[in-house]
Amino acid sequence: MKVLGSLIGLSVVANLAAATLSACSKSIAIKITSIYENGDTNTHHDYCEYLGDGRGITAGIAGFCTGTGDAWEVIQAYHNKTGGIDEFTPMDAKLKQYAKSESNSKVGLGNYCKVWKKLGNSDKLFRQAQDEARDMMYLKPAQNAAKKLGLNLCITQGQLFDTSIQHGPYDDKDGMLTLIKETSAKFKANASGLSNSTLIINGHKVDEIVWLKKFLEVRMSHLKNPRDSANRGGNYWAQTVYRVESYKYAVDKKEYTWSKGSVKFLDNDGKATTVTC
Ligand SMILES: *[C@@H]1O[C@H](CO)[C@@H](O)[C@H](O)[C@H]1NC(C)=O
Ligand SMILES: *[C@@H]1O[C@H](CO)[C@@H](O)[C@H](O)[C@H]1NC(C)=O
Ligand SMILES: *[C@@H]1O[C@H](CO)[C@@H](O)[C@H](O)[C@H]1NC(C)=O
Repeated sequence: MKVLGSLIGLSVVANLAAATLSACSKSIAIKITSIYENGDTNTHHDYCEYLGDGRGITAGIAGFCTGTGDAWEVIQAYHNKTGGIDEFTPMDAKLKQYAKSESNSKVGLGNYCKVWKKLGNSDKLFRQAQDEARDMMYLKPAQNAAKKLGLNLCITQGQLFDTSIQHGPYDDKDGMLTLIKETSAKFKANASGLSNSTLIINGHKVDEIVWLKKFLEVRMSHLKNPRDSANRGGNYWAQTVYRVESYKYAVDKKEYTWSKGSVKFLDNDGKATTVTC
């Protein structure tokens, strides 16, 4: 969905340790984000659409875009599995070019959505390529940031994953790392709370949920007023504040640990919905 800070960053990302979310909690995090992206908890491997948001064609489970480079990563991962000759191969030159130049163009990609939808529906290897690309490009950087912060609660880790997907995992103007930095900079003294998880932020003891609430404020501010003009396309971000409202609701409901394998969040209309792993 979002720009890869740089494609070079990927090899670093790929070497990170395993995620700290359990399989069940990871599944919940993915399903919650899927509600925000697609309106339901299903994974949409076959989704493909030209949104006109400046990022080329958007497709698949994480909204991979031809104009940001992440779709090209998925297709290369797929080529690795097919030996390089498959239905995307004729489009490789254009895909590579548009990824590199961050182009919004769809010229030469007339068959792209047809192929993506077909393979997304029926091809196990293509679905796997998407899953792996999502984990490598978005989940792992979020989990790595979570480890650096010393996060213990699933809700905070889920929030970083959702941010990574929408804002990108890097330190560009609205990127996940920038939001984390901005949040932590606000703590200039110990900040206690009731979550039973304490972080050390700038040498201060900060309750994890107190930190998360501040992070949600910071993210809301970026959604309403993206600092990067590339994120102002179609005023799209301002329409997605329900993502933050939903996590705020779950914080209020104390859905911190996800240990029961079932959590209550809000859907995109603000209605409570139960998500299970
Ligand atoms: C494809 O395979 C090559 C060689 O094993 C590897 O270096 C590269 O990272 C892979 N690319 C993707 C996108 O998986
Ligand atoms: C912050 O917490 C630490 C550890 O409990 C304590 O030593 C320190 O005095 C506290 N600082 C303030 C300003 O309360
Ligand atoms: C924190 O720990 C106390 C004491 O074990 C417990 O009563 C309380 O429910 C815990 N709070 C949370 C949010 O888990």
